[in-house]
Amino acid sequence: MDDPLGIELAGVRLRNPVIAAAGTCGYGAEFDRVLPASELGAITLKSITPEPREGNKPWRILDAKAGMLNAIGLANCGLDAFLREKLPAAAEMDTVLIGSIAGHSQEDYCTVAEAFGGAEALSMVEVNASCPNTSDGRQFSADPSALGELIEQIRQALGDKPMLVKLPPDMADPLAMCSAAVDAGANGLTLANTWPALAIDVETRCPRLSRGTGGFSGPGIHPMVVKLVREVYEQFAQKKEVPIVGLGGVLDWEDAAEFVLAGASGVGLGTALFVDPALARKCARGLKKWAGRQGQPLHALIGAMEEPGASL
Ligand SMILES: Cc1cc2nc3c(=O)[nH]c(=O)nc-3n(C[C@H](O)[C@H](O)[C@H](O)COP(=O)(O)O)c2cc1C
Repeated sequence: MDDPLGIELAGVRLRNPVIAAAGTCGYGAEFDRVLPASELGAITLKSITPEPREGNKPWRILDAKAGMLNAIGLANCGLDAFLREKLPAAAEMDTVLIGSIAGHSQEDYCTVAEAFGGAEALSMVEVNASCPNTSDGRQFSADPSALGELIEQIRQALGDKPMLVKLPPDMADPLAMCSAAVDAGANGLTLANTWPALAIDVETRCPRLSRGTGGFSGPGIHPMVVKLVREVYEQFAQKKEVPIVGLGGVLDWEDAAEFVLAGASGVGLGTALFVDPALARKCARGLKKWAGRQGQPLHALIGAMEEPGASL
């Protein structure tokens, strides 16, 4: 096996399937200081809106028993500063860069998409159509026609750069949403964003996050996202040859391997990077050994879960 870990994601070659998730590794260069980016298949940079955003007030991050809650609210430096200051530094890193597009309106998304389309350093973009921590972050992921219309507009503004669409984990009809995104021009799907959640301080009886609700991430969501990836892979993505990035609660290489077997081509790491940035390297190494034991290159294991026997 010449290249046991290499995968192709929406036409872009990644040296391994491990992808740092949006919002959990800043603008990239910060991450490179703790772990060489060359250990990663790709880095998804912080979601960018046309204007700078401060995000929500503290508390906006909380430890939870099986993960964490956040309500950062898309804090970012805005498109101009991103292109001027952050992207040139990120471009120095030896990995594939994915630009994350966010906004409050179709126009916002298209403004960022147009700029990202012309940014050579970004090999791919991911549309964050599922942020639970702003008033309108999920307006386009509540129904397939709204999502389809958004993605169609973004495709026009972006040009032909590969585009992933990041969806929420709690979709009423995941297949309709995935199909709307792909029909409108998406080349891949990221499953998924954080799970809408609430934590309450029982003494003050107030929500523990300033915003009230937040997004839950980490190990507690992992099995639910594995099920979502499997369902989308089996019923849609395999037939249409649409790659999936499995993202949710990966803590070690086995969690990553589960995503691969369920049908994911790429595996995202988010919350776990706050605990151990070196996990990205450990996951890639663990996946390599596992693929070796399976006697197959990693790409041949995508979706290779054995079906359960017939139930009684
Ligand atoms: C602190 C924090 C900030 C995040 N910011 C973003 C963001 O800017 N854009 C985005 O698409 N997702 C963002 N996410 C969601 C993650 O990319 C990921 O979808 C989610 O955390 C699930 O993966 P995990 O369980 O591995 O963390 C954020 C998550 C966390 C914990």
